[in-house]
Amino acid sequence: MSLVGVAAKRIVTCDPARITKDNPLGTIEDGVILYDQHSFSWVGPRASAGANVPIIDHGDRVITPGLVDAHTHAAWVGSRHDEYVMRMAGASYLDIAAAGGGIVASHNAVMNASEEEIEQTLAARLKRMASLGVTTCEVKSGYGLEPEGERKQLRAIARVREERDLPHVVPTFLALHALPKSAKASRDHYVLRAATTLLQEFASAKLCEFVDAYVDKNAFTVDEARLVCESAKKLGLGVRLHVGQFADVGGAELAAEVGARSVDHLENVSDKGIAALAKAGVSAVLLPTASFTLGQEPPPVERLRAAGIPMVVASDANPGTAPTESLPLAMALAVRLYGLTPAETILGATRLAAASLGLWGSVPHPRGAIAPGARADFVVWDLPHENAIVQPWGSPKTLLVLRDGVCIGR
Ligand code: NIG
Ligand code: FE
Repeated sequence: MSLVGVAAKRIVTCDPARITKDNPLGTIEDGVILYDQHSFSWVGPRASAGANVPIIDHGDRVITPGLVDAHTHAAWVGSRHDEYVMRMAGASYLDIAAAGGGIVASHNAVMNASEEEIEQTLAARLKRMASLGVTTCEVKSGYGLEPEGERKQLRAIARVREERDLPHVVPTFLALHALPKSAKASRDHYVLRAATTLLQEFASAKLCEFVDAYVDKNAFTVDEARLVCESAKKLGLGVRLHVGQFADVGGAELAAEVGARSVDHLENVSDKGIAALAKAGVSAVLLPTASFTLGQEPPPVERLRAAGIPMVVASDANPGTAPTESLPLAMALAVRLYGLTPAETILGATRLAAASLGLWGSVPHPRGAIAPGARADFVVWDLPHENAIVQPWGSPKTLLVLRDGVCIGR
């Protein structure tokens, strides 16, 4: 495909080369983007654009990079509306788990589904996410729990990943999420198998780029997660960790020690943990939909900001604690509940999210910003200003969503 162009009143580039104190998102007013079916070739003010490329003018609207959802459990099947009713009646996460709900309920649904069913459910979900502006989506396994279940989920994710008319998928093996019934008497063996044979199998079959573990009270310990992190690093995989959702058990320090790409949740983290994350350059992935559902206090955003830790905003899309597919909803909550500025939120759902997935920086065709050479992932919003992405809430506001220069949603 030859070059084509789009114009709009505001082009929010998120390109570090254009960001200044007064222009925190590198916005170009009355701008033009030229792109082909792969990447952006030119971005700048309309007055400097050449005259020989056809340009579609989107008038008074705003264009941003495609949204990047850096933390999802989107490969789930089934519904957990029953436990939501329990939760609203006062049951805690732990009460629900004790009644057979929670992660184990989704585990049962995954075990009873075929690979094709998981694939079709995930593809349909990603299509809806695309229509909300998402062009890249991290997807975790973690409801299989047993080797065959994890393999089934990861294979379904790999099949969906081949689809070019859906968001770009980054697969994560969530190696330690919950202990299945069958492993209650052999916890050490379960952890060791995840860290060795399973991880090796999934890495060599290219079924995952990242590994994740749930480090918390009533979940997995720092020492258990360390086994998984260390073998992931030896295999060349990146590490992301669920840390401090309910209690600070030292997960932030572990993330820093193993050079994790991201530490996610972080409602409970000490100053020492924050200092370690800052020093190691680990991104914090904030999940406001989850803490909203659970009625929790926000993470210590001011301390994270003061420490200079990149703050990513993600949906945590899952059927229990974040029953949504909407990254824009998480962005709205990040502003309303966590006190992020709209600009911090937009950067956290685009370039900073891409960076936490290893898709920005010295990689051939980065994602997450509108800049020459980057993948042509962008959203034309039916909105007059980028701040309107986080307010008003609740309805899809995209006019066009392009991944690699091709429309995947509207
Ligand atoms: O990120 N904390 C653990 N994992 C998920 C919850 C998954 C579930 O309840 O199914 C989370 O909130
Ligand atoms: Fe999660």
